[in-house]
Amino acid sequence: MALDPNTPVHRRHFLRWLAASPLLATLPGCEPAGSRSGASGDAPPAPGQVPGTGGRRPSLDDLATTAADALDVFDMEKVAETTVPTAHFGYIQTGVDGEETQRNNRAALEAMYIRARRLVDVSRLDTRVTLFGREWPSPVIVAPCGSQRGFHDEGELATARAAQARNHLQVLSSVSSTGVEEVNEARGEPVWYQLYATSNWAVTEAVVKRVREAGCPVIVLTVDLPGGSNRLTLERWRRVDDRDCRSCHRPRGEAPSVKPMYQGTDYSSSDFRSPGMTWDFIGRLRDITDQKIVVKGLVTREDAALALQNGVDAVWVSNHGGRAEGSGRATIDALPEIVTAVDGRVPVIVDGGFRRGSDIFKGIARGADAVAVGRPYLWGLGAFGQAGVERVLEILRNELAITMRLAGAPSLASIGRSSVGSG
Ligand code: FNR
Ligand code: LAC
Repeated sequence: MALDPNTPVHRRHFLRWLAASPLLATLPGCEPAGSRSGASGDAPPAPGQVPGTGGRRPSLDDLATTAADALDVFDMEKVAETTVPTAHFGYIQTGVDGEETQRNNRAALEAMYIRARRLVDVSRLDTRVTLFGREWPSPVIVAPCGSQRGFHDEGELATARAAQARNHLQVLSSVSSTGVEEVNEARGEPVWYQLYATSNWAVTEAVVKRVREAGCPVIVLTVDLPGGSNRLTLERWRRVDDRDCRSCHRPRGEAPSVKPMYQGTDYSSSDFRSPGMTWDFIGRLRDITDQKIVVKGLVTREDAALALQNGVDAVWVSNHGGRAEGSGRATIDALPEIVTAVDGRVPVIVDGGFRRGSDIFKGIARGADAVAVGRPYLWGLGAFGQAGVERVLEILRNELAITMRLAGAPSLASIGRSSVGSG
């Protein structure tokens, strides 16, 4: 998604100014968000006002005022744009370079179509998926995303409560703003843990020991960000954020403060990225833990084959939501060659641009066992906290169910390569 760095920011400021303005209450038919309960008293509508709308014709630009109002995940995005601090919203939205990869993740999904079958019994739908012996009611995974307290005060804890309420698999980022123990408690069971190993083995050992002791059954090793990426959108939104960021962030040029998951380790000398990491790292990790190991960030059949040779337990096809390399290639297009290379030996997860139930359907059709989402639930979090994340998960599940029923696909297993087409 290409963002015009100017327009949305001005709109945010205007909306905030308008919401705070006493003018709002005095404008005919213009009430603050949340007070649109209906016509006041028995007074007839003034000329120009619209009967049956509380005196004000709703506008298609109206923002959702409760989580339940959001009809799709993009409604959440619009609200988050007005509630999440400007630079932090830029952090969510950013891709790299000209955002080609991020855009293409979406474009490739939109270019696919569903081949609907008729006269199939779809009176009961089965969307269950089993990963490492644990059954989930939905194939939608909450992807690891860092720094969630930057989007909502309750951050990862709100996400965890939502994942628990809706029974979804949650993966916690290494650069979370809350430690794994608290998140596991809020989730009601241990989450999967995403590992940024750093270049310091002692840090890896300490973090893996900690998450193992916290009961996390799976390590998701992210391998697609060996160095910093060129996040221009983030930089642009940062520049138009006029808050004083020094109360939370160290000044530019200084080492950032140590995130909870690295506290108590020798992190100060390192960075969360691992530019020197090679495939033998999987074996080293295997030597220090009996947790399942998932590799996140693969986009080629060659690497899928190497992952299997090195004994990984699952493969996660991802380009980091278009925030790592600017390859331009959509993950939904990379998925088939990886599924072929994996050949059913381990589960395959995919993410990148999945925004609707029909997208989830397409990911399953191209061979993924489960589909992860990042930005959509962050929008929900930023907009309404736990309720927003829950609503995003609910929307995606409802949409998937509708898609399956109308496509004549009563179970995930019945969705296959012939369920979709393109071109
Ligand atoms: C991420 N992602 C990510 N991945 C990871 O392995 N560790 C991390 O800490 C983060 N942090 C992070 C922050 C934010 C703000 C975003 C948007 C993404 C990537 C994430 O796990 C996932 O791969 C993508 O978000 C999927 O793409 P969509 O759904 O955002 O298009
Ligand atoms: C990001 C890192 C933290 O995408 O994974 O911002």
